[in-house]
Amino acid sequence: MGRDERDRRSLELGGVRFIGGETAALNFRKDVLAGLSRPQKSLPPKYFYDAAGSRLFERICRLREYYPTRTELSVTKKNLRAIARFAGKGCALLEYGSGESLKTRLLIRALRPSVYMPVDISAAALRAAAKRLVRDFPGLGVVAITADFSQPLAIPAYRGAARRVVYFPGSTIGNLTHEEAHAFLKMTRGQVGPRGAMLVGVDLKKDANVLHAAYNDAQGVTAAFNLNLLARINRELGGDFSLRRFAHYAFYNPLGGRIEMHLVARDAHRANIGNYRFSFDRGESIHTENSYKYSVPEFERLATSAGFEPAKCWTDPRGWFGLFGLLAA
Ligand code: AVI
Repeated sequence: MGRDERDRRSLELGGVRFIGGETAALNFRKDVLAGLSRPQKSLPPKYFYDAAGSRLFERICRLREYYPTRTELSVTKKNLRAIARFAGKGCALLEYGSGESLKTRLLIRALRPSVYMPVDISAAALRAAAKRLVRDFPGLGVVAITADFSQPLAIPAYRGAARRVVYFPGSTIGNLTHEEAHAFLKMTRGQVGPRGAMLVGVDLKKDANVLHAAYNDAQGVTAAFNLNLLARINRELGGDFSLRRFAHYAFYNPLGGRIEMHLVARDAHRANIGNYRFSFDRGESIHTENSYKYSVPEFERLATSAGFEPAKCWTDPRGWFGLFGLLAA
């Protein structure tokens, strides 16, 4: 029996297979030191999501001001049948994310994929999610892949499936620059192959005041999420950042078409990470995140340039969030 055949059989029995290490190789220290040494200090947003950051992000998703999560869920619920028709039953469903969300469960129920492959940077999150999925969907084959999706990824072959469909919800694509998003879509196009497809959730352009409120919530949860990045540096890298000396600052940049999040120094001071010392002027910022917003034609152009045919766009009545169905062109 060949390896593919063995994998296929174990998956048919509802087994879970884990690929990748305990934790994907993260270069947290290297990236932090490099980012804080640039003229415009910056930190990569992928480091928001340690255990504390993930808990804060879950709270963000439930905030009244943060509309993307519930809007995407309502778009998914409302169009579930059409989405299932688009993806095709029995596909190999690959998700960038741990598969913990309600949307994923809806999709699995409607699509009945022959195999479900969540890809996540956190092995712990994957393990917990995979366990729950096989309990709740008896017979579902799960291949859990620990990896950093911003790096090229080889997807294991699985011959039993009709086609490969990549699911990338949550407008995480908005946290990539246009160049990175293009490269990511192109890589995905290669992964799904000639008959493949992609379902991608994208936050759409809208009134800047709505956007501003979503990233400046009244309870200060987004501020705590942003500041947790410095707390994480203190915890994991032995930094001595004083969180009180930084303020959360988020604004919509209409020229860039993006929300920018920063941590702004309240006064001139220094902070250390081991032997490395970083100086901050009063008002100087650390750029921590971009969250790009697209118009429907803008995103369709981006997808087309990466080798996809934009076939569907499901959206809510206000046109705030789009779930795009892309076919390999
Ligand atoms: C994960 N990502 C799509 C979120 C966003 O809206 O860009 C992260 C986030 N940052 C602040 N609030 C939420």
